[in-house]
Amino acid sequence: MKPIISPSILSADFGYLARDIEMINQSEAEWVHIDIMDGVFVPNISFGFPVLKYVAKLSEKPLDVHLMIVQPEKFIPEVKALGAYIMNVHYEACPHLHRVVQQIREAGMQPAITINPATPVAMLKDVIRDVYMVLVMSVNPGFGGQKFIEHSIEKVRELRELISITGSQALIEVDGGVNLETGARLVKAGADALVAGNFVFSATDPEEAIRTLRNLV
Ligand code: DX5
Ligand code: ZN
Repeated sequence: MKPIISPSILSADFGYLARDIEMINQSEAEWVHIDIMDGVFVPNISFGFPVLKYVAKLSEKPLDVHLMIVQPEKFIPEVKALGAYIMNVHYEACPHLHRVVQQIREAGMQPAITINPATPVAMLKDVIRDVYMVLVMSVNPGFGGQKFIEHSIEKVRELRELISITGSQALIEVDGGVNLETGARLVKAGADALVAGNFVFSATDPEEAIRTLRNLV
């Protein structure tokens, strides 16, 4: 199966955001990945809803929204108002994760749980059947262009196993340090979707970079 590609606009040129979103529209990307940061849950701030309103208007691809913020449930209405397809919340940011997952679904979006590199896959056992997707962070969240954490390959295998023994339908997405080499190994380990920021936007031909990543298997 070809992986779903979700280019992260965190690495786009914000001076030419409309041009970069149009490139994604024309590409083989399935979704567009949107990283929202608050400077509290992660040591960086990206962009907020006033900017994303225009991103949403320009994008023809479904929005894969990744919230790296504390209390993400507070922003369910704002994410919904963007027309988001997927709302990713961090396991580490939600003490009442089961409730948040239900709230996202009730709002009409696909709920996804993101786990940091230090969070074991096993922590998802009791919620895995309730989610559309699990997003495995293969770098510590907060910045684009970081080095891939090797252990993530093993985590994808463990997650594939957990999904199969529980009868869950959850997709597996991976985010951080994805390129042709890590991407191929992640897909082999069981990843369904790959987020790519730096790999896409530092390429001379970003649309071709997306095509290559999508067709690596
Ligand atoms: C990191 C973000 C990622 C980031 C990935 O906190 O969640 O989505 O944009 O960037 P690359 O692909 O450059 O590692
Ligand atoms: Zn992300």
